[in-house]
Amino acid sequence: MPNILRGSRVRRASKRANDFISSIGFDTPITKHVVSINMAHMLALYKSKEVTREVASSSLKFLSGLPAQLDLDRDTEDVHHMIEQEAIKAIGMDKAGYLNLGKSRNDQVATALRMETRARLLELSTALCKVQDSLALLIRRYGKLPMPGYTHLQHAQPITVAHHFQGYFEAVQRDLERAAQAYARVNLSPMGAAALAGTSIKIDREYVASLLGFEGLAENAMDAVSSRDFALETISVAAMAMVNLSRMAEEVILWSTSEFGFAEVADEFSATSSIMPQKKNPVVPETVRAKCGSVLGELTAAFTITKALPNSYNLDLQEVTPHLWRATDDALASAVLMAEVLSSLKLNPDRLLLSVRGDMSTATELANHLVKEQGVPFRQAHAIVGEIVRKSVENGSTLEETALKEMPSVSGRVTGRAVKIDKDQLRNVLDALKTLELTRTAGGANPHAVPRLLLKDSRSLKQNLSWIARARSSLKEADGRLRDQVSKTEGEVIR
Ligand code: ARG
Repeated sequence: MPNILRGSRVRRASKRANDFISSIGFDTPITKHVVSINMAHMLALYKSKEVTREVASSSLKFLSGLPAQLDLDRDTEDVHHMIEQEAIKAIGMDKAGYLNLGKSRNDQVATALRMETRARLLELSTALCKVQDSLALLIRRYGKLPMPGYTHLQHAQPITVAHHFQGYFEAVQRDLERAAQAYARVNLSPMGAAALAGTSIKIDREYVASLLGFEGLAENAMDAVSSRDFALETISVAAMAMVNLSRMAEEVILWSTSEFGFAEVADEFSATSSIMPQKKNPVVPETVRAKCGSVLGELTAAFTITKALPNSYNLDLQEVTPHLWRATDDALASAVLMAEVLSSLKLNPDRLLLSVRGDMSTATELANHLVKEQGVPFRQAHAIVGEIVRKSVENGSTLEETALKEMPSVSGRVTGRAVKIDKDQLRNVLDALKTLELTRTAGGANPHAVPRLLLKDSRSLKQNLSWIARARSSLKEADGRLRDQVSKTEGEVIR
């Protein structure tokens, strides 16, 4: 059949051209939203008497009769065309010919993208809550164990396992806050903007917005159809979350090496080698680490496509969509799996303890001790301890032995005053577990902080889950209202 939606201005497009400019290959995620938008728009047209009862009722009946999983026709330009075309075929031009009165694919696609994007932000947020839950579980299970803290991947100072994972918990908390803030900016309705200028057709934009679960309007019609910063912001949220997940993934991989031996990834998230029978490869964290690269690629692509676009709608905008889907798909799958990898991760307390014992990571505490107990300025204390460490490395003796032996002469050379240090005091100062307990500052690695951290984490988690639940239920309510209105209006003519 001739493509009636192509109108009369242009003749048939070449097949190659149509395939090239078609979005049908990535319209599936918005299909159900496009149906809802058509319903809400028709209800608005009917409410302001722009269409007759018959038109409204048959159009709504057609729309609500569409199967939930609509098969997309690969030969049409997009889902917007396809639905209108199917409607004309099914109920005739006299009724379906009004579906697009006062609306354009431009406001429709922007609206549908926002509806799908907000759903994806909620899913990603739920998965990030699961990551937080797994981190809290690790803190509960292993939190008080000492381990080496690293800078430059060199032993720096002793920390607790809780301290390590709490850092990630707080990073994920910021990811969740970013998702919530993005959600508020995404959740605004472009409908009624039409192509770019608004329309002379009477449409209550607020009414349409509320039927579709939006919190408000993307008001300026030009901005409503041409801006994709909501998509860029969402991909940014996904990218930032991925960077954090990739850091966790990298550490899980590192900790699973025989050199570290701190952790073992559960079998469900590992693979073996096709030739080396002993191998247990941490393939899920590896893939998370790699997917972060893919999402950063999507981010770059989406930003680059939209840069320097003139107002208002340009078909370039369509090209952003597949990047939005891929970035959010990858981030969601990564977060879901990382949550499972972390909650099933087994730590090896002996290896952690062994690694922090006699590793000289308490050298800073020895310098602090010289300041507090011996009145040595910190810079000189740093020099004294540095020299003792060097001697200890050179002689292959422990820091304790070297400090006992060399402290008077080294301090004498550095400060002009020989410092003597008591053996028991020295032993305490160099003991990782004891120095951990001396940590006083808020947010430090003191093991006594663990119960308070767990309390704080469970509060954050509860708040996060509750905004997600509120957002979900408000979308569900709106959808219920839409379905109600549709069935009421459908029914008006039947009798
Ligand atoms: N399929 C398009 C998209 O995804 C919407 C169509 C807008 N096309 C147009 N010629 N105004 O962005």
